[in-house]
Amino acid sequence: MTNSLPETALATVAEPFLDTAISALQELLPASFIDVVGPETVLVTQVPDFSAFSKLCSSQVPYVRHLARPVIAVASSDETELANALAECIDPKVERYSLQAWKASEHVAEKAEHVRAETFKLLIEKFPETRFVRSKAEQTLGVCLAEDSTYICVTPSVEALSDWPAGRIRLAKRKEQISRSEFKLEELANCYPAVFTSASEQSTAVDLGASPGGWTRILRSKGFAVNAVDPGLLDPQIEADRHVAYYRMTAEDFFAMKATQAQKETSPFDLIVNDMRMDPQDSVQLVVEAADFLKPAGYVILTLKIGEAGLSLADSLEQLQTKFNVVFHRQLFHNRSETTVVAQRR
Ligand SMILES: C[S@@+](CC[C@H](N)C(=O)[O-])C[C@H]1O[C@@H](n2cnc3c(N)ncnc32)[C@H](O)[C@@H]1O
Repeated sequence: MTNSLPETALATVAEPFLDTAISALQELLPASFIDVVGPETVLVTQVPDFSAFSKLCSSQVPYVRHLARPVIAVASSDETELANALAECIDPKVERYSLQAWKASEHVAEKAEHVRAETFKLLIEKFPETRFVRSKAEQTLGVCLAEDSTYICVTPSVEALSDWPAGRIRLAKRKEQISRSEFKLEELANCYPAVFTSASEQSTAVDLGASPGGWTRILRSKGFAVNAVDPGLLDPQIEADRHVAYYRMTAEDFFAMKATQAQKETSPFDLIVNDMRMDPQDSVQLVVEAADFLKPAGYVILTLKIGEAGLSLADSLEQLQTKFNVVFHRQLFHNRSETTVVAQRR
């Protein structure tokens, strides 16, 4: 049995922050209904307009990492019935769809595998003219398996916030990887590529809280020469790189030292990144004070450590906006008790 749905949205949030996200959504959309359909997933009913909802989440609810727009709910998980329901959603004028399935609950893990293997096979056979890809198509055809229902979703991919099912991005662990933190920066490059696209051979970055050197390694791979700042030790291979200048000191001391240097000795940086283990307000204050060391329109990337209780970040963001425009703020899949912010110097 299938049911057409009114304008709804499925939102994925890291499990510890589900209640925080629900309160934020409820405050922004008092007329909507929010049902928990899995430990990381809510169904928001009576969304005014999906596109506007996506923008709202993107700018005001950083805990939402993925969105999908359900159009049909299917009670059964029979592969033929699901393939028929998916077929109803195909627009023959659309040449390519990203085809994705994800589970909203561990109880349906096997079913999700089955959908990928069997249901998708039936669908692909039925539509030989349509190209189905894993990601990067303009529209995403998604199957979200919850315990009581299976939601068939058709979502403009840019409005999904992440091009990965439920935002669960899979990044390969490389042998040269230095820290798990690297995944956060790699994921950001995937979600918000603009931050790295203008890097050239002359680009310079400062990495605050660089030890043991994972983010510095990623920045080097993007072409930046890096000033790595941390009282902690750097991986010897990173330290030996002649395009890495290691300052074994605190970020506060680093900028105090920079401030005493004559202007001709120091040119502004293209990028400041800050993954320091620090209270969000102190971390933001440091970056705001360092804004003059950044080129106009230069980016700052910072992780805000919100802790397990999920600190309010409103004051920190307001403070950041005194010198920067916040262009991205989200809890990425690889963020634990933190969010990632990208801001651009005014
Ligand atoms: C999560 S680790 C950074 C990991 C790093 N991004 C990587 O990929 O290898 C946080 C770091 O912040 C550093 N830190 C904390 N307070 C600092 C300060 N005031 N100045 C500079 N570094 C600081 C700590 O020494 C620690 O190495």
